[in-house]
Amino acid sequence: MPDSKPDWPRAKLHVVTGKGGTGKSTVAAALALALASHGKNVLLCEVEGRQGIARMFDVDQLPYEERRIAAGLTGPDGTPGTVYALHIDAESALLEYLAMYYRLGRAGRALDRFGVIEFATTIAPGVRDVLLTGKVFEAAKEGRRGKNVRQYDAVVLDAPPTGRIAQFLGVNSELAGLAKMGPIKSQADLVMTLFRSRKTVVHLVTVLEEMPVQETTDGIQDLRRADLPVGGVVVNMVRPQDLNAKALAAVRGGTIDPQELAADLKAAGVEADDVLTEGLLQEARDHAERRALEDSQRKLVGRLDVPAYELPRLTGGVDLGGLYELAAELKKQGMA
Ligand SMILES: Nc1ncnc2c1ncn2[C@@H]1O[C@H](COP(=O)(O)OP(=O)(O)OP(=O)(O)O)[C@@H](O)[C@H]1O
Ligand SMILES: [Mg+2]
Repeated sequence: MPDSKPDWPRAKLHVVTGKGGTGKSTVAAALALALASHGKNVLLCEVEGRQGIARMFDVDQLPYEERRIAAGLTGPDGTPGTVYALHIDAESALLEYLAMYYRLGRAGRALDRFGVIEFATTIAPGVRDVLLTGKVFEAAKEGRRGKNVRQYDAVVLDAPPTGRIAQFLGVNSELAGLAKMGPIKSQADLVMTLFRSRKTVVHLVTVLEEMPVQETTDGIQDLRRADLPVGGVVVNMVRPQDLNAKALAAVRGGTIDPQELAADLKAAGVEADDVLTEGLLQEARDHAERRALEDSQRKLVGRLDVPAYELPRLTGGVDLGGLYELAAELKKQGMA
């Protein structure tokens, strides 16, 4: 099947948010692999300090430095690109900033010992977000300069969760308001211009349960209110749909005759006693109930008026092969 045209041709920075545990990191990684087909260079960034990328790609802990971690998805033209990864932490970003602006390489490290950095990054959470978003901006901006500096076709950010995303991405607009003029204000304005432009899209990951879907709905509103560009919704960990609509209706309506079921099983070579048949029926009822809940949540997602993508729940968790599988799925559905 030919791949459909990608839905986000102008996006340079893909931000992936969602309720905790719904699969933000997994989806960000799969999206990076998918975007890195056709020979493109993609940078996957994380800012939550948990080395999730290293774990997913089964490599050593990542430094504060862009590192090649995987080949992109092999496309129909057979030339995958490359995925690089960057682990961004506020302390390193602050030291880098000090070194750059005040040439404080060594003094910067002394500051670290005296805990100034702890002050800046722990006591003032806003400062932390300014440092983190600043580094993301540096990676994603046009016309990066310097020795060994790579220009990326796309940057994917494994971002903070939905409850914090608008504030996180909007921190520079607060800063611009505070600074009023001067270099800090112009830098903050540049960052906000990128984040609010069509070069940025914020995708939301959810699962088909009430709370995450509600959080997705609220998150979209928060982002729009903050004038930040909403991308798509990725519905993750979707259960296999083992029963068709007719079978589901029969299970729900309780119209399946246990004796007929036992006879069918026997025809298929399975000797089923009453316990097994009743167990199977109970399982079918549970499945039907979960499917009904999922279907009602899927309807709500459908009403959100943004593109939606669905990823299957992979049995046995997500290894590297699984990430490529999910990447291929996102590509097929047009997210990349
Ligand atoms: N499609 C999937 N199929 C099976 N398992 C999945 C899938 N997506 C994610 N998982 C698993 O679910 C768990 C949570 O995923 P992940 O770490 O990506 O979520 P997260 O939203 O980044 O979590 P956190 O809020 O802790 O950062 C992981 O163990 C991951 O391997
Ligand atoms: Mg995560």
